[in-house]
Amino acid sequence: MNATINLEKHFPVLLNELVSIISPLYGGTFIDCTFGAGGYSKKILENNLNNIVALDRDNSVNSIANQFHTKYKKRFKFHNKKFSDIDQIKEDNIKAIIFDLGYSLNQISDLNRGISFNSKGKLDMRMGLNDFSCDDVILKMSQQSLFKIFKYFGDEKYAKPISKKIVQLRKNKKIKTENLVEIIEGIKKKKSGKNKSTKVFQALRIFVNKEITELMYGLIKAYNILPVGGLIAVVTFHSIEDKIVKFFFKEYSEVKNSSRYLPKSISTKKYFNLTKKKPIIPSSSEININPPSRSAKLRFAYKLENGCNFKKFVSNFNYLQDIENLNFDA
Ligand SMILES: C[S@@+](CC[C@H](N)C(=O)[O-])C[C@H]1O[C@@H](n2cnc3c(N)ncnc32)[C@H](O)[C@@H]1O
Repeated sequence: MNATINLEKHFPVLLNELVSIISPLYGGTFIDCTFGAGGYSKKILENNLNNIVALDRDNSVNSIANQFHTKYKKRFKFHNKKFSDIDQIKEDNIKAIIFDLGYSLNQISDLNRGISFNSKGKLDMRMGLNDFSCDDVILKMSQQSLFKIFKYFGDEKYAKPISKKIVQLRKNKKIKTENLVEIIEGIKKKKSGKNKSTKVFQALRIFVNKEITELMYGLIKAYNILPVGGLIAVVTFHSIEDKIVKFFFKEYSEVKNSSRYLPKSISTKKYFNLTKKKPIIPSSSEININPPSRSAKLRFAYKLENGCNFKKFVSNFNYLQDIENLNFDA
């Protein structure tokens, strides 16, 4: 019963801020969509009134989940699932659904997974439950598709020459992580604050893990299974994620137009109560202790009504989903 839980290297981001938002709802089930090293789940389970249902697509977190089972017994359930499948979870008394997007430090620092540009060897980047790896993308996608991935998912100014060089080089040799870094560094001569490979690696991770589709359908399905009065909280780490979450909450927390002369299809209902329009960001002391937290943003909203169809949300981000659905057409 008193087993200690080893959470490994990961620092849970914005943990105190999250707790202060969700603690008024304590006494029920909390869904942790991104279990990771279990930092959020552990904190929530410290209150005996709470249960956790946790999800993670990465089965390497099973060993941590097993420690939680031993300690918290029936108060903790774990599913090795993607959060876009959250509607398969049947639970009563759900109080909040929490997303802490991106990667845990345990994943990034495992250099065999090829998530980081510090890795060597195979370009992998799979988080878990994927259809293909980054290796397939680099080997098989057309130059035009690679260009779109780098431009839209990485905002990479040099998307064109980088994609061109990849296609040239792959004719003669297998491109490994270190080769991709060399290609990028050979093209991006100017020094900048960030590592030169950051944008291309971000873009490839998003594509390989279908992070846009995951987030959009994770949010929609979270809304569908959440009872009225429940809360959705999301921590994002890059601007595309934040743009999606911001739109999702803002668009459906405002009455757009209540004119009786307009077609009924135009929503006159508020589906969320957005008490705080601006995101919560980490304090400077948190950033000092855990520098990767500097790009984190926490947004949350309470569900007010059932029946939202999210058509505008889906169509607004169709252009990103189209890129995630690009074929291996090279
Ligand atoms: C930033 S970590 C979460 C850390 C966690 N909050 C903690 O305190 O330890 C993100 C985790 O979410 C998982 N993840 C990312 N996208 C996912 C998805 N679409 N479905 C399920 N899990 C996902 C990753 O595998 C990773 O373990």
